[in-house]
Amino acid sequence: MTGLVKAFVATLLLCLATEGLCACSLNNINIGTVRSGRQISGKPEWNVTVVNNCQCAQSQIKLSCMGFQTVENIDPSILVKQGDACLLINGNSLEKSASVKFSYAWDPPFLLLPLGSVSHGC
Ligand SMILES: *[C@@H]1O[C@H](CO)[C@@H](O)[C@H](O)[C@H]1NC(C)=O
Repeated sequence: MTGLVKAFVATLLLCLATEGLCACSLNNINIGTVRSGRQISGKPEWNVTVVNNCQCAQSQIKLSCMGFQTVENIDPSILVKQGDACLLINGNSLEKSASVKFSYAWDPPFLLLPLGSVSHGC
């Protein structure tokens, strides 16, 4: 138990010391999905917007992608499926307040959640 507390305090101090590393959390990545109203090959199309709500740029943004499928092609420079994770914009940097949009078509829609990112430039 005390070891756990020590580890927690150490992590907190590390965060304070290296603010840039810890300034963004997964909560700073917002993913919104809306039905576009179109049908692609008989499947409903979904428009996804990923927004970087952090004050720092973030790169290596990965989304949970388990079982993700689409009948509509997604530009691989925007989203690439790598096993259970999807890599956004080839791991390139997404500036603060910037967003990335893509559409896919499947029924039902997938719950896409942020898995990880690296923040920098604060
Ligand atoms: C969904 O995305 C398509 C393709 O980018 C776009 O034409 C359409 O306006 C979008 N629809 C909505 C409801 O956002």
